[in-house]
This record gives sequence, structure tokens and C-alpha cells, in this order.
Amino acid sequence: MTAGGTVGRSDGRTAKIAVIAGDGIGPEVIEAAIPILDRAAAKHGFALRWERLPYSADHYLRTKETLPDAAFQHLRDDVDAIFLGALGDPRVPGNEHARDILLGLRFKLDLFVNFRPVELLHPDLTPLRNPGKIDFVIFRENTEGQYLGRGRSSGDEHVAEEVNTGKGVERIVRAAFEWAQSHGKTRVTMSDKSNAIPTHRIWQETLQRIAREYPAITAEHRYVDALALELVREPQRFEVIVTNNLYGDILSDLGAGLVGGLGIAASANLHPGARQSLFEPVHGSAPALAGKGIANPVAAVLTGGLMFEHLGYPAAAATLKQAVRKLLASSKRPPDLGGDAGTAAVVDALGDLI
Ligand code: NAD
Ligand code: IPM
Ligand code: MN
Repeated sequence: MTAGGTVGRSDGRTAKIAVIAGDGIGPEVIEAAIPILDRAAAKHGFALRWERLPYSADHYLRTKETLPDAAFQHLRDDVDAIFLGALGDPRVPGNEHARDILLGLRFKLDLFVNFRPVELLHPDLTPLRNPGKIDFVIFRENTEGQYLGRGRSSGDEHVAEEVNTGKGVERIVRAAFEWAQSHGKTRVTMSDKSNAIPTHRIWQETLQRIAREYPAITAEHRYVDALALELVREPQRFEVIVTNNLYGDILSDLGAGLVGGLGIAASANLHPGARQSLFEPVHGSAPALAGKGIANPVAAVLTGGLMFEHLGYPAAAATLKQAVRKLLASSKRPPDLGGDAGTAAVVDALGDLI
């Protein structure tokens, strides 16, 4: 798998996948990806049983329901994986439904690894000159930080607390080292802002302690501001980046920008070794694109590849990535990558390549 051990409750031939397509372009990219994933699965001798769930801004506005407990338990216990499009709708300005559904699943399923690969799949997709090989992964802590929403507002003071527990920091740092070790990587870069935020000492101490257990891996540290610069200047030197929830969110969009943008950036929310995981593109619901038939479905397809790896079908994941590489080298690129192929045309082209 991509991060952690291979899991799956499927019988080996059919995987049951819950789908939360969500808002905006979410349903468009998910419905585009599904036939591609089906095709790749069939080619490798397994099948996917899709179960579409309605949770979205529309559903919330209609019913006041975000993610009911029974649905959460079903997602936790009864399916092999969760495949999510995007959540976010201008009609829900407080984003309550996304907090409950997306962040709620990450927190309640304890999916502490947000695994976000950044790989240059075609040389002309980067805005950089002479980039060389760009191929690193971000291990974003996914259950703590400012995302817990702790804090208070009183009068003119609005306080957002950032939670960093010893357990939380240790498990994400360890997951990054474990992945590096099992994937032949030799460098792990931890990023924090301990020069300005005293509590980030826990990240420094944890890095030093865990690094001693992995003598074959070079452990290094970058303040997140300096890392943002260096990622643009010299992205090819990075292999594994581990950081907190907020910095990981920001750096993963920066990473996407280095290799072609959000239209092709995949991510997985994992608890290594545990059963349930959630797979979603890095991008959001892109309301301005919704309904136009031009959303790029490649991020969703590659996210499906991460899901295949996790379910124990690495060859099917490789098939998807190979098809995407060929698509990106062809004239069938979607508009965000400089072409004029709409979502349906990209699906047709990808289907022909599998
Ligand atoms: P966004 O990712 O939706 O869009 C950012 C930019 O990237 C826009 O220019 C958009 O057109 C482009 N883009 C994104 N995905 C694309 C695709 N597949 N094909 C082509 N172009 C694509 O981010 P935003 O505008 O900051 O957020 C919009 C909404 O999405 C907000 O409500 C936000 O909270 C939500 N959001 C949700 C998720 C998620 O559910 N995982 C992730 C990010 C943002
Ligand atoms: C992401 C998104 C989410 C996040 C938002 C929608 C809450 O930006 O998955 O990257 O910040 O985690
Ligand atoms: Mn984000």
C-alpha cells in the first residue's frame, strides 16, 4: 500500500466502496473516475461495488443532516474504503457540513496520516525551469493542530488553539520514517515553526528521538517558511516531508502547483494497519467550474490508484498511473493543463489507454 499495511475486507475479488461525491465538481470527477477504476479493476481480475451516499451541501440544506451516526458507523464497519469527491458550497458559508463529514471522518476514524504524493508525471507540467525529477510525498498530520477548532472568541479576541500531542506527533513522524524505510528513501524532512511557536519543540524533540531508530535515513528539519521557498527552488532534493495539519494542507497545494496543479493531485487519509481509510483528491469543489463539464478527473482517478494500492491491488494502481502518464503526453489534456478535452473526453481517452 501507499502508507501502512495492506488491508481490505473484500473477498479478494470484490471491494465494496462507499462514495460521498459531495459538492460542486465532486460528483463530476467521481462519476468520471468510477468507470475508469472499474475498467482497471476488471483488467486485474477484481470488481468494485459502489455504494453512493447522499451527504453533501444539498443534503444538508434539505435535511439539516450532515453525517448521521448510523451512516458513520456504516462507513466505519461495512465497507472496504471510502471514496470522496469534495465538500464546500457557497450556500453553506460556515462549512458546517464539510467539518462534520470530511474532518469528522478524519477525526472519528482516527485517520492520522494524510498521504499526499507529489510527482511530476510529464516534464512540461511544471512551471519551473529545469526541474529534474520531482517525486516526494507529504505526510500531513491529520487529527490535531488547529483543525480541532479549539479556542474561543470573546469581545475583540479570537483565539485558535493548536493541539500537538506527544502521541500525535510521534505517530505521524514514525509513519513517515516507516514509509521512507519501506520505499527505499533516504531522507525525511520535518517542518515546523519552532522558532516562533514554542510548543513546536515537541516536533523537534520527536524528530531527534525517532530518527535515532532509523540510522540509514537522513533526518533534517526546515522551518515551514524556508521549506516553501526551497520547494520552489529545489524540489528534487525532497523525498518525504512530514509536518502538521495546517502546514501540510498548504504545502500540498504548493506541491500540486509544482507538478501540474490541483487537477491531478491525489490524497489518502489513512491509519496504517487499521481497516478503514478515506480517499479524496486534494482539490476542492471548485464552484466556478461546476456543471461545465470541464473539471479534470485525473486527481480522482489517481486517488483511486492510492485506494487500489491500499486495498492490495498495486498492479491496478500502476495501470491507472501509466494510463494517466500516456494521457498527459497526448493531445487529450483538460483545460487546466492547457488542453481542450472536457471531463467526458478525458474519461474516453483514459478508458482507451487501459
Ligand atoms: P479548489 O480546489 O476547489 O479550487 C482551487 C482552484 O483549482 C480553482 O481555480 C479551481 O478551478 C481549480 N481546480 C480545482 N480542482 C480542479 C479540477 N479537478 N479540475 C480543474 N481545475 C480544478 O479550492 P477553493 O477554491 O479554495 O475551494 C472551493 C471549495 O472547496 C471551498 O468550499 C473549500 O472549502 C472546498 N475544499 C474542499 C476540499 C475537500 O473536500 N477535500 C478541498 C479543498 C477545498
Ligand atoms: C484539504 C482541504 C480541507 C483541509 C478543507 C476543505 C477543510 O483543504 O483536504 O486539503 O483543509 O483539510
Ligand atoms: Mn487543502
